[in-house]
Amino acid sequence: MARKIILDVDPGHDDAIAILVAAANPKLELLGITTVAGNQTLEKTTLNARRVATVAKIKTPIYAGFSRPLVRDQVTAPDIHGESGLDGPAWGAVTARVEEEHAVDFIIRTLKNSQGDVTLVPTGPLTNIAGAFIRCPEIIPKVQEVILMGGAYGLGNTTPAAEFNIYADPEAARVVFHAGVPLTMVGLDLTHQATATPEVLARIRALNTTVGDIAAELLTFFRSTYRDVFKMPDPPVHDPCTVAKLIDPDVFTTKPAYVDIDTQSELCYGRTVCDLYGVTGQEPNAQVAIELDWERFWDIVIDALKQYS
Ligand code: RIB
Ligand code: CA
Repeated sequence: MARKIILDVDPGHDDAIAILVAAANPKLELLGITTVAGNQTLEKTTLNARRVATVAKIKTPIYAGFSRPLVRDQVTAPDIHGESGLDGPAWGAVTARVEEEHAVDFIIRTLKNSQGDVTLVPTGPLTNIAGAFIRCPEIIPKVQEVILMGGAYGLGNTTPAAEFNIYADPEAARVVFHAGVPLTMVGLDLTHQATATPEVLARIRALNTTVGDIAAELLTFFRSTYRDVFKMPDPPVHDPCTVAKLIDPDVFTTKPAYVDIDTQSELCYGRTVCDLYGVTGQEPNAQVAIELDWERFWDIVIDALKQYS
């Protein structure tokens, strides 16, 4: 039985790869793609989701969500993802549509009608997820799991303390981390191991398909900005780590920990404070991702890309 998921994204180069993996692997049933403001404005992230769905002929419905964070001012990441949010490929005409229904209403409707077997996979700011939980708390017990890309128990990437997805909407993150749902936090500590090396890019280019070429162009652009901004030789492809875990639970290890979000301080605003040593005495509210099996991860991604023409 395929695992039912909703992918909540802010494409974003790595979100695009996550969409391609989630839509291709038979172990997952992608019920919907919801978009949120994050790497770029909602208008751009939604157009980008439609671009990916068009080139990959993905029929999964797309729903647009929140256009700004719950409380703080909006932040975007053009230095990493470009002005379009998906710079690199020459995108053609877009045929994939966006539904009329708001993403939050779709999430609520889907969970209400479910048997408690839907997993939420946010790879952008948590605004839509928090919005759904705030608007309709009775759906919370029906969430099978939230497996999110965000946070870090070590350094941040947007401030020294905070990772982008959490920093972009810390108040939303606090709602989600304290909702009481089974939660896996896939933070930078894990995703920085998911590097797209020249060998990986060569394997993707060797597919010699339209979607393979698009993926290679996305990762080539991503490589350029990660080198410029972070001086990293190979870009970490964050978001597909979430869906890879659902496809193969052995792709990375986790450790239970109590995680809270700093929404008060100036210096550490948006930090995921992870009590890995249990010093707070608080019950763990998350499984925190620790160590990636790099080979296994890229086999999952490339096997998925092989499903496309
Ligand atoms: O910090 C990395 C995360 O922020 C990724 O999800 C990337 O797409 C951006 O949303
Ligand atoms: Ca993202």
